[in-house]
Amino acid sequence: MRAVKLLSIATVVAGMVLLTHGSLRSAADDVPYVGSGKCKMCHKKIFDPWSKTKHALLKIEEADSEGMKHRKVTGCDANGQPIEIGVACESCHGPGGAHIKANTETRKTTIVNGTRLDPPAREAMICAQCHAAGKSKPPPDAVDGTWKEKDYPDRYKPGDDLKATFTVEQADKHSKQSIYSEWVNSKHSEKNVGCPKCHDPHGGTDQPHQLKGPVNDICGGCHEKEKDIKTHQPEAPAAATSCSNCHMPDGVHLFTKEAAKEGMAKVK
Ligand code: HEC
Ligand code: HEC
Ligand code: HEC
Ligand code: HEC
Ligand code: HEC
Ligand code: HEC
Repeated sequence: MRAVKLLSIATVVAGMVLLTHGSLRSAADDVPYVGSGKCKMCHKKIFDPWSKTKHALLKIEEADSEGMKHRKVTGCDANGQPIEIGVACESCHGPGGAHIKANTETRKTTIVNGTRLDPPAREAMICAQCHAAGKSKPPPDAVDGTWKEKDYPDRYKPGDDLKATFTVEQADKHSKQSIYSEWVNSKHSEKNVGCPKCHDPHGGTDQPHQLKGPVNDICGGCHEKEKDIKTHQPEAPAAATSCSNCHMPDGVHLFTKEAAKEGMAKVK
């Protein structure tokens, strides 16, 4: 018990140090969750499109494992009960209890903002808490026989270094729950082309999968040279009209040349 207390004091102190530096890297342990209804009061422009996303509309009844249950809720209270069903604001921004009470000066430092994380690789980790395959690492005070490994990062909070508490592994086959595992070894990961570069975390774009725009515009925006498919791939089958037809067959996020060749062979 004493060890736990000391640890939480250390966290608070660490949090204060970060605050004086003007950038909050991780959600603090002792800040309460408030639910997205509170965020709506001041962020209606974000709340409204978000409320129509798949994330917002997830149903817990459809979860067939503990891991999927974890992926479909936002935060838990002291009794382990979910604060909110669905992937809501505080799933990605951390608990908002301090932010909603903040003044102009402390507004930004009381909430996690993916774009401000340092190193930038921590932004995609926010998505990885639900979109990565792998296994949890034992906590420092783990007791043999009572600690159980999970297939999701049970101790991660937005802003954290995921690697501290979770080992990312490759999945046997592609699924929506293993996309980070695919992406993390790609050139895109190396160059910080993270999930929100292509997906709008708040939705509202009228595109499938919360994409920020039509696929060819997103990819072509950075890859000028390959923008015109006919020039880029003169041998392209007529059905290959989108970059993702070849580069992301079935939704894989590997982005390697090998994957593209395999993808191209699959286009019909
Ligand atoms: C009382 C009004 C209010 C409420 C309630 C509120 N916010 Fe904010 N929030 C603000 C204001 C104002 C800013 C802009 C601060 C600035 O630009 O200086 C902001 C900024 C932010 C930012 C960006 C911080 C940055 O680094 O620039 C995030 C993320 C955010 N809010 C998330 C949330 C979430 C999540 C909730 C619900 C838990 C929430 N807010 C509730 C007023 C509010
Ligand atoms: C799936 C994860 C996710 C969810 C859910 C989410 N956000 Fe965000 N939010 C992000 C990320 C990532 C960024 C950084 C911006 C970017 O990279 O596009 C961000 C940026 C922001 C910002 C600052 C930039 C801006 O667009 O003004 C605010 C404010 C914000 N979010 C509020 C909210 C509120 C309020 C909710 C709930 C209604 C919410 N977010 C739900 C991930 C999320
Ligand atoms: C708390 C868990 C959680 C977090 C955090 C999370 N997601 Fe998700 N996401 C899910 C679940 C669950 C689904 C539904 C999967 C399914 O349909 O099987 C989903 C679905 C999606 C979809 C598919 C939407 C569609 O309309 O097809 C996209 C795209 C997505 N997430 C991107 C992101 C991005 C980008 C981030 C980070 C900014 C993120 N997610 C963070 C749990 C999460
Ligand atoms: C370079 C752009 C890009 C990046 C980076 C990216 N995505 Fe995607 N994502 C896409 C495109 C394009 C699709 C749609 C593919 C298609 O047309 O089938 C997609 C599809 C998805 C889907 C639905 C896939 C399915 O199997 O149905 C999910 C979930 C998703 N992305 C999550 C993520 C997450 C999480 C990350 C970060 C780890 C990420 N994406 C990074 C472009 C990107
Ligand atoms: C925000 C900019 C950005 C976006 C958007 C983007 N990319 Fe990239 N992409 C990069 C960068 C940077 C690299 C690394 C280039 C390098 O190292 O020379 C890269 C590399 C690649 C590579 C080469 C990988 C390798 O192993 O050589 C492929 C293929 C690729 N991207 C496909 C895509 C596709 C398909 C999309 C759209 C779904 C996309 N990119 C969207 C910036 C982007
Ligand atoms: C018909 C299938 C097909 C389509 C459609 C396609 N590509 Fe490719 N792309 C490939 C193949 C195959 C390679 C690997 C070629 C090689 O080995 O050099 C590749 C390679 C690339 C590379 C890596 C280039 C390099 O030399 O590092 C980028 C970047 C890229 N594509 C972007 C795009 C973008 C952006 C689009 C959409 C505008 C697109 N591709 C559409 C098949 C396709």
